[in-house]
Amino acid sequence: HKKVAILLSGGGSNMVALLDSMTGDHPARASLVMSNDSEAGGLKKAAARGIATAAVDHRPFKGDRATFEAELIKPLIAAEPDIVCLAGFMRVLTADFVTQFQGRMLNIHPSLLPKYKGLHTHARALEAGDAHHGCTVHEVTAALDDGPILGQATVDVLPEDTPDLLAARVLKKEHMLYPAVLRRFAQGDRTPILLS
Ligand code: GAR
Repeated sequence: HKKVAILLSGGGSNMVALLDSMTGDHPARASLVMSNDSEAGGLKKAAARGIATAAVDHRPFKGDRATFEAELIKPLIAAEPDIVCLAGFMRVLTADFVTQFQGRMLNIHPSLLPKYKGLHTHARALEAGDAHHGCTVHEVTAALDDGPILGQATVDVLPEDTPDLLAARVLKKEHMLYPAVLRRFAQGDRTPILLS
């Protein structure tokens, strides 16, 4: 099996979707779930599923990304991942860090990239009056929320939508898209997946 490490900062619903998908004839298995926050709900969910976890809190490093990443990478390297999945990991990674996993690190972002890189994607899509919104899985490169697109899933924006309502519908699509892309990627296939 290919080894997958998953990095998260929050509740980890995408991480759970990825873990639940890696059974049977799936070519990959999770070897580590990591967070920049030892209190992240996702860590408990991973541990409950028997997956090794690690946390390196970013706060003591007070914005010194290089030193934070030097610690973050230790358990990550020890897990010998073939693939690293960012799943709601909310720290920006430096080019130095990303380069070490170039071509084998994936991210899920809650917008139809290249639209709405960064934060508050659902509010920004509503504000713009977009008819469609969604999520993207892409290869991580040094540029934020950039890199080759491996899959996208679309939702219709509804008249009564709020950022929270829209986020919830997009999140359901994330849980379908990310496992589909990971399976294909683990088989060495980078053909983009389009879901609607
Ligand atoms: C997801 O919507 C993910 O796309 C987003 O955070 C959420 C995490 O939810 N990621 C980003 O905004 C990355 N900049 P989860 O912890 O339940 O998977």
